[in-house]
Amino acid sequence: MKDIRPIKDDSRPKVYIETYGCQMNVNDSEVILSILQDAGYALTENIGEASLILANTCSIRDNAEQRVWGRIDQFRLQKQRRPDVLVGIVGCMAERLKDKLLDSHVVDIVAGPDSYRSLPELVRNVAPDSPQMNVLLSHEETYADITPVRMDRNGVSAYISIMRGCNNVCSYCIVPYTRGVERSRDPRTIVREARELLEAGYREVNLLGQNVDSYLWKDVDGQTVGFSRLLEMVAEISPELRVRFSTSHPKDISDEVIYTMARYENICRHIHLPVQSGSNAMLEKMRRKYTREWYLERVGKIREVMPDCGLTTDIIAGFCGETQQDHLDTLSLMEEAAFDAAFMFQYSERPGTLAARKYPDDVPADVKTARLNEIIALQNRLSRESNERDLGKTFKVLVEGVSKRSPDELFGRTGSNKVCVFPSAGHRPGDYVRVEAVSCTSATLISRIV
Ligand code: SAH
Ligand code: SF4
Ligand code: F3S
Repeated sequence: MKDIRPIKDDSRPKVYIETYGCQMNVNDSEVILSILQDAGYALTENIGEASLILANTCSIRDNAEQRVWGRIDQFRLQKQRRPDVLVGIVGCMAERLKDKLLDSHVVDIVAGPDSYRSLPELVRNVAPDSPQMNVLLSHEETYADITPVRMDRNGVSAYISIMRGCNNVCSYCIVPYTRGVERSRDPRTIVREARELLEAGYREVNLLGQNVDSYLWKDVDGQTVGFSRLLEMVAEISPELRVRFSTSHPKDISDEVIYTMARYENICRHIHLPVQSGSNAMLEKMRRKYTREWYLERVGKIREVMPDCGLTTDIIAGFCGETQQDHLDTLSLMEEAAFDAAFMFQYSERPGTLAARKYPDDVPADVKTARLNEIIALQNRLSRESNERDLGKTFKVLVEGVSKRSPDELFGRTGSNKVCVFPSAGHRPGDYVRVEAVSCTSATLISRIV
């Protein structure tokens, strides 16, 4: 079995990696570290001793990119102090901006999400005035044979990418341009990776894809494995290994997946189901390919089969042409769906997307902000109400670590993905404990061990 934890070896040159963006990027950084460890590097958390500095970047909204431009200015200072340091920008921003990143005269390496295997070669070939770039996208690359080197602190919960890319064309979204076409990973390599994680002490795997419901593996003998079958295969590894997944697409989440979740105790009852908007006019313009009514029907089905299932979402405020009525439709859908939590954003126009080409970004900034604030305020209330409904209930919680509130308290998650804090009582990360929720905030269930 390969090392799944960073190698400690002072004689090796050091790589420092900063990660921005989604869970897939976090997992990609673990793939990158695996490739670089094989090439002789060791990870450092101290940028000052790194000979290679990497930023794994995100393009989803303009502010995500602005943060990285700020970091590039910081990296410039490192290079002034130590001219031999190499700086690499990898990930979605590398794919989107390509050689524009070289204009900064700070960046030596630009590598897109499908070119990480070439990183050692790119590093070798860098010379003064000869930066290196590989932004080719692939139809096949899934890094299936690479064992990610885990950078999490607890050793309890790990990401497994089950697919890459996206074949949807949501009009606001840059991901299909930065990550290329959708491809699924061989299920045997997914199961093997999950089993190795269990053997290394991990107790939870989170299966990642932009649209997990369209996972589809076709074997050479014509056999196919879809997402619900993959869920079963991973769930059957061990009842001690929890299974989570993200992200589900409302147009594709099937009854089969919902029933499969209900059949296995160790598949966590939580679905992240981004709705984006409650207005049919906006959903149409966003090209999400479902209606408000369809979305609420799916929520109804989930609740019918699994009344205790956690439901979370993503919402965009102020998309092109959004009227006050469209906004009110989003608020009323949030109430009807009674989300447990949400990620909420202002629309940010991304160059080259369908929306950028077709629709003016015409909701004034102050209106976007005001609408987003209303959405956040409503979600705070819904989250608190959801937690209040859980008071007095008991949950099986997987301990993840020491609570930020107190060294004598631990935190962990319920299957429905709520964070609980409770007295340590000799438990450790990786243990399962039963707790009762006794009080709450909008973000946390304060609990006692039962
Ligand atoms: N594949 C996932 C989403 C990935 S991006 C899905 O389809 O649900 C994560 C979230 O970022 C999206 O759900 C959306 O809410 C938000 N997002 C994407 N593009 C955006 C943009 N241009 N402006 C603001 N938010 C955006
Ligand atoms: Fe973007 Fe839509 Fe694909 Fe999600 S499903 S990554 S929002 S294009
Ligand atoms: Fe993820 Fe950001 Fe790329 S959300 S897929 S890192 S654009």
